[in-house]
Amino acid sequence: MPASGQQSPVSTNHVKPSCSAVVGLQWGDEGKGKVVDLLAPGHAAIVRYNGGANAGHSVVVGGKRFALHLVPSGVLRPGSRSIIGNGVVVDPEQLLKELTTLSEQGIDCSQVLVSDRAHVVMPYHKAEDAARERALAESLGISAVGTTGRGIGPAYAEKVQRSSAVRMGDLLRPDWLRERIRAALAFKRPVLERWAPDVTDALDEELLYETAIGWGEKLRDRIVDTTRLLHEHLDAGDRLLFEGANATLLDVDHGTYPFVTSSNASALGIAAGSGVPSQRIGRIVGIAKAYQTRVGAGPMPTELTDAIGDRIRERGREYGTTTGRPRRIGWLDLVALRYSTQLNGVTEIALTLLDVLGGLDELKLCTSYEINGERVSHFTPDACTLESVMPIYQTLPGFAEDLGECRSVDELPSAAKAYIARIEDAAGAPITMIGVGPDREQTILADQVSGVGSVG
Ligand code: GDP
Ligand code: IMO
Ligand code: MG
Repeated sequence: MPASGQQSPVSTNHVKPSCSAVVGLQWGDEGKGKVVDLLAPGHAAIVRYNGGANAGHSVVVGGKRFALHLVPSGVLRPGSRSIIGNGVVVDPEQLLKELTTLSEQGIDCSQVLVSDRAHVVMPYHKAEDAARERALAESLGISAVGTTGRGIGPAYAEKVQRSSAVRMGDLLRPDWLRERIRAALAFKRPVLERWAPDVTDALDEELLYETAIGWGEKLRDRIVDTTRLLHEHLDAGDRLLFEGANATLLDVDHGTYPFVTSSNASALGIAAGSGVPSQRIGRIVGIAKAYQTRVGAGPMPTELTDAIGDRIRERGREYGTTTGRPRRIGWLDLVALRYSTQLNGVTEIALTLLDVLGGLDELKLCTSYEINGERVSHFTPDACTLESVMPIYQTLPGFAEDLGECRSVDELPSAAKAYIARIEDAAGAPITMIGVGPDREQTILADQVSGVGSVG
């Protein structure tokens, strides 16, 4: 307080919205990696805040494909830090493998850092993930979630359980680490012996301890208090870019539960998963495919199980980056898109994979649902309700042309412009980027797109 006893004016510098975020608006694989790579220049750090190695983000540069699972997609742009925040569950085995592969591909990984508070995915989490899925489907006859098998659910459960969880910082504290592993095994052993009798290594205390200590030795220099580091960047006036993993309709609170992942995969998870307050984020770029895909089980009102779906799957190479599973395909669901746009506070949309729809005679957009004979235009994330909705479509003319060479809105066929305009109108946010191919260069950018909403 100044000597006069009067309070000095409150500075608003500490909440200046200098950060941006990229978040998936559907069920994942919307092309977040490509957009993060495009936006990364000018940001001091690219930050993952949720999920784990269930994510598979592909970036194609000059025809060369990179697959990122834990390392933020900004790593391909030299000059920014790559931060794995506290909200991520980290499989150190996978992280080390990824760092090696990237380094072999000539990528500088020296600025990849991991939060000391991020939780570790242990081998028994992966074993439990697989065992639960198998037991649900085979022994109990209940629909499995169709997880990626990366141990995500059990690792987040352990985090919330507290007493037996291992955090990245614990890999550097031998006595503490041993205690945590011992506690975890006391509870895991009966479960895994019952549901996965073939699992042995994941229950071997000595082996687990030695393995974990080894991870700590290799990752020691990368394990830091990332929250403090991010605030130092903010204090220095730097810009940060948050990279969402998974997607809004897979968000554990706001997605199509229980067919979701185990973290807040929407933009709502950024603050808790990084330690950066939400007022700091002024730009939220929502990523939506020009159609719908989903991997794993759960409702998908616009799913196509016919030749059109197969055609889109092949043209879009719709096979999982993480598991290789064929993705389910559907027409774009505008009811779900509007829900995701509102929930995230999306300020702009990147519409990706538009080129994949080229060559179809007509395109359908789901504009509302029918539930028990009643027309509704709002999305319900409740899986049981969503399972029973009937999609109502608007049909638009298709475009025959190959869009791969288009670099401006003017070059797009008029049917494609009309399709984009209808999406923009329904979503309630401007479309500022359009993807016309996987390569970094195959993108139509903001200043060229503005005004497309008034076309057609
Ligand atoms: P993410 O998980 O959201 O990062 O998305 P994925 O990388 O799992 O899946 C998106 C796929 O589409 C990848 O194979 C990308 O290379 C590819 N891709 C991204 N944008 C476009 C686009 O505009 N057109 C085409 N044809 N492919 C794209
Ligand atoms: P990116 O970041 C697509 C899905 C799984 C499964 C459900 C739960 O590449 O968009 P989990 O292993 O998380 O417990 O699986 O969530 N899923 C994804 N689907 N893209 C992803 O990530 C996904 N991450 C999780 O297929 O249905
Ligand atoms: Mg993916």
